Amino acid sequence: MNDQLYLRANVMAEPLVDGWYAWAHLIPPATAARNITERHLRIRDSYSASPETHASAVKNPALLGGPFMDLNGLLVEEVKQLRERTLRDRHKLVELSKALVELDEMLRQKASGFSLEPLYAEVPEILQGYVELVYDLNNQPSFRLIESLLYRSPFYDPSMQSVVLSEISKDDRPFVLSTPRLAKGDAVQFNFPFSSEKYDFLFRLKDTPATFGEIQKTLELQGDDALRFQSFLTPEAPKPYPKYDGPGARWRYFGHACILMESAGVSVLMDPVLSYTYENDVSRYTYEDLPPVIDYVLITHNHQDHILFETLLQLRPRIRNIVVPRNGGGALQDPSLRLLLKQCGFQNVIELAEMEEIPFARGSIMALPFMGEHGDLNVQTKAAWRVEANGHRLLFAADSCNISPQLYQHVHRLVGDVDALFVGMECNGAPMSWIYGPLVTQRIERQKDHSRRLAGSDYDRAKALVDQFNCKEVYVYAMGQEPWLNYVMSVKYTEASKPIVHSNRLIEDCLSRGIIAERLFGEKEILLADRPTPALATKST
Ligand SMILES: [Fe+2]
Ligand SMILES: [Fe+2]
Repeated sequence: MNDQLYLRANVMAEPLVDGWYAWAHLIPPATAARNITERHLRIRDSYSASPETHASAVKNPALLGGPFMDLNGLLVEEVKQLRERTLRDRHKLVELSKALVELDEMLRQKASGFSLEPLYAEVPEILQGYVELVYDLNNQPSFRLIESLLYRSPFYDPSMQSVVLSEISKDDRPFVLSTPRLAKGDAVQFNFPFSSEKYDFLFRLKDTPATFGEIQKTLELQGDDALRFQSFLTPEAPKPYPKYDGPGARWRYFGHACILMESAGVSVLMDPVLSYTYENDVSRYTYEDLPPVIDYVLITHNHQDHILFETLLQLRPRIRNIVVPRNGGGALQDPSLRLLLKQCGFQNVIELAEMEEIPFARGSIMALPFMGEHGDLNVQTKAAWRVEANGHRLLFAADSCNISPQLYQHVHRLVGDVDALFVGMECNGAPMSWIYGPLVTQRIERQKDHSRRLAGSDYDRAKALVDQFNCKEVYVYAMGQEPWLNYVMSVKYTEASKPIVHSNRLIEDCLSRGIIAERLFGEKEILLADRPTPALATKST
């Protein structure tokens, strides 16, 4: 009982909302409400009607990421029960979802350019006081959600939140937008809200041991759960983290858009999406390769492969600051990341507007505009990050789609060249409805939907970025190719896939011009030499 025990590195912690994987649209009340009725209930009904169709659809590469449950056609009764439970326990959110449709409909019918004041009385009762009615300059009506009040209303119910712990030994996981977490097996489920400090205690066990008695008491483990939890613990301490203390800077690629940059005692982690540690063919950095304290976590945008709550929750006790793009607030499709993270127990959430900057020792972080990739919806929660460290300038453009190259001409005039560009080239992109479909209240025509894609830069657009910033190094990243990411990405490329063809072309073009270029996969480490810090070309505005 007095042994000092650590949490094993292969223990997976899946955060859930109402039994579904907690991605960022399942936490704010309004987007959660719409996803529960328009995604979860629909998929459940379809699965119950024809489980075998789902079982074969998930095996079809052409249907990857589609609305099909990955349950081998089994657990039909459990799926039905989950449906009944949702209708019974989540009726407030079901009503909220309906009220959002009625509000939209009422505005379409009655807001004709005259004052909106009389229409407040016609806002569905449960939404009254939570919305402001607005026109754009040409009399198109809409509404703004008062999100900070919705989080303090009966629509935000932290008892829906839980975290399921189980051991992971392989990369395959079901696609989380379409499959609920049903099987319990050897898992242990904690029903504490995400904001609970108990999770900080739990995830600190990765490198700060405790006795089983302390663990059992703090995590309120009883009976079989206590027995099962013992198998998640080990007396073996993790390897100590070899901190970078060189004179320059070091960056390490952890997969997808997750990059750790360290210099002059400062650590910056971009879009944290991490693999657990287990035997595998594809070498990778994992949770064990992170410093005990992360000074800045930067989030580029609110897509589930860039803000992964599963990883963030496990890192919460070691994150000093988490920096997110500022948004306008109130649009259904654009929930505030600051409010969401604060609600989930993250302290020190910093919002940065475009061209704003945070200085740190011999470096800085600046938010640059991020264009497109959101189906032409007015989503402002997106930033490309320019990180300067010990004289090296790196631009993490993530999925920014360089649709209007004049944008980065203007930016370049203000910030100057960058040494290394990291650019996502997932230039096929899913149709707008893939993520935002449950939020729309009128059917989108298929052709329109497919014309508005969540696509990053293609060859021409990425090349324009390389040329604009006179980059000396170019790294294509955020391609979702790492096998441990399928549960949030669901992409499988061949050599003929457009993102591969276009990124190959960019790399060949760069190499032919003496620019270092590579498509990142798995893991990579680069050491950057010491350099005198150039005078900053700009100051924040
Ligand atoms: Fe994206
Ligand atoms: Fe992405």
